[in-house]
Amino acid sequence: MSKRTIQDIINMKGKEKISALTAYDHPTATILDRVGIDIILVGDSAAMVVAGHKTTIPITVDEMLYHTRMVSKAVKRSLVIADMPFLSFQLSTEEAVRNASRFIKEGGANGVKLEGGKVILDTVRHLVEIGIPVMGHIGLLPQAVNLLGYRVQGRDEETRKRLIEDAHLLQEAGCFAIVLEKIPESLGREITETLAIPTIGIGAGRFCDGQILVLHDIIGLYPEFQPRFVKRYAEVGKIIEDACRRYIEDVKTGKFPEVHHTFS
Ligand code: KIV
Repeated sequence: MSKRTIQDIINMKGKEKISALTAYDHPTATILDRVGIDIILVGDSAAMVVAGHKTTIPITVDEMLYHTRMVSKAVKRSLVIADMPFLSFQLSTEEAVRNASRFIKEGGANGVKLEGGKVILDTVRHLVEIGIPVMGHIGLLPQAVNLLGYRVQGRDEETRKRLIEDAHLLQEAGCFAIVLEKIPESLGREITETLAIPTIGIGAGRFCDGQILVLHDIIGLYPEFQPRFVKRYAEVGKIIEDACRRYIEDVKTGKFPEVHHTFS
């Protein structure tokens, strides 16, 4: 199968649901690419599920670039989107261009994702004009956790209206898709049905054009916290634990190494 393009993703709207997951390293990106995921997001959730921070806020551009390079090198087919970390795109458009272009040139990403609505429109417009595809992200914004917490967004009429407006403004500014995080299903549906570009939901209900989740959440490798919108498909943490326990046991009891593991 050929490499997914931005246009392929846009064309999937209304025809085929878009599958997306996060990945942060070469082995997991290789697997996701092999099984045919449409979009791999090198999410700043790496700060929490890989680096062990309490929020996504501390991760830097250089750290995100390291993850992005590992993922891009592994991928033949999926679209690779790099998440721009907190304060890497809000200070000025110039700074945003400098950082976004690093994800494309040095990281090998096919596009970038930016959290926020109205306030980032000029930046989005500029990035798209110079040829950098942008995925939007509205609703719960993990980078704004200090202001908004992790609660569902868009339950009251005022926020609901603002999120609908933000979605349309981001589309007009040139976003090729928008992530909708932790909003009521009816709002996810309304935004999806009124936009021409695809929505990718995470806790935004059944009617989005696609779905994204954090890989470590669905495979049981992030035991700290399990959001209600996550479906767990495997217990990889338990498999690793079991393998390591058996290895320790074998070393302690002399069952490993066996003769065929040795050299003459
Ligand atoms: O960083 C992340 O993982 C995200 C989500 C949309 C999955 O932004």
